[in-house]
Amino acid sequence: MSLIQKYGQLALVAGASEGIGAAFSGYLAAAGMDLVLVARRKEPLDQLATKLNHEYGTKVTCIICDLSDAEAALVIKEALKDEEINLMVYNAAMSYIGPFENNSLELHTRIAFANMITPMSMVRIFGESMLNMGRGAVIMMASLAGFQGSGFLATYAASKAFTRVMAESLWYEWKSRGVDVIACCAGATATPNFIKTKPEKTSRFAPRVESPEEVVEECMKWLGKKPSFITGRGNRVASFFMQKILTREMAINIMGNNTRKMYRL
Ligand SMILES: NC(=O)c1ccc[n+]([C@@H]2O[C@H](COP(=O)([O-])OP(=O)(O)OC[C@H]3O[C@@H](n4cnc5c(N)ncnc54)[C@H](OP(=O)(O)O)[C@@H]3O)[C@@H](O)[C@H]2O)c1
Repeated sequence: MSLIQKYGQLALVAGASEGIGAAFSGYLAAAGMDLVLVARRKEPLDQLATKLNHEYGTKVTCIICDLSDAEAALVIKEALKDEEINLMVYNAAMSYIGPFENNSLELHTRIAFANMITPMSMVRIFGESMLNMGRGAVIMMASLAGFQGSGFLATYAASKAFTRVMAESLWYEWKSRGVDVIACCAGATATPNFIKTKPEKTSRFAPRVESPEEVVEECMKWLGKKPSFITGRGNRVASFFMQKILTREMAINIMGNNTRKMYRL
């Protein structure tokens, strides 16, 4: 069964203009879905919309919105009027790498809004109409950083734990009502944002950095089958050691030490 037959015609990607979000948009356009793309910068979003329209004839609506604004979910709902979203990808995230106390309360609050409050609100708003229609899908981007305390990424990592638990909970609640929910727990992925941070390789055993397209392919394979999954074999092996073999203290120390080394903190 095609994605359109299973879920419907219209997909929304929040955080669509580059990296994993752009890869999701490309995948969904290639599957014949119409798209609503959301991000802060107009230019890259318009460029992607034009490209997808040329390549696949995709009907694209762009919404410029900062997802860390308290009203973001309502602004998007308002812009869409009565259009029903059939598949939603919440990809955008804000992060800050460094000592917790070195950044402002305002920034930490914005991270909490973009990574937790807005996705929760959007799932509440668009999930309701999916439940009413008896079909739909929600994909939420989580991270390996959310599996244990992750020093120097405190607010981001905590928000990713929230995302995974939210998606897994709704997977249980909504699976019998035709709505598939999944948390995609990614490891290091070669997105413009990740490359921009100039991470140093910490060990020759570090899992391979995946491409955004690999992450999306794997996610679409597990949608409707699992509540959450970890991208890539290397990340799954590393996560098994961290969660099942090591003590909690050891896992937290490894994460903090790696981030310290990667970003020369
Ligand atoms: N890359 C990795 O190594 C990695 C690893 C684990 C998990 N993840 C997860 O994968 C997802 C995507 O990561 P990413 O590396 O591709 O980069 P990202 O910076 O999280 O997302 C990039 C996209 O989101 C948009 N965006 C960011 N903040 C926004 C905001 N406040 N409001 C509206 N749009 C916003 C960006 O466009 P604008 O800048 O124009 O707004 C861009 O289109 C995130 O949820 C992240 O936590 C990534």
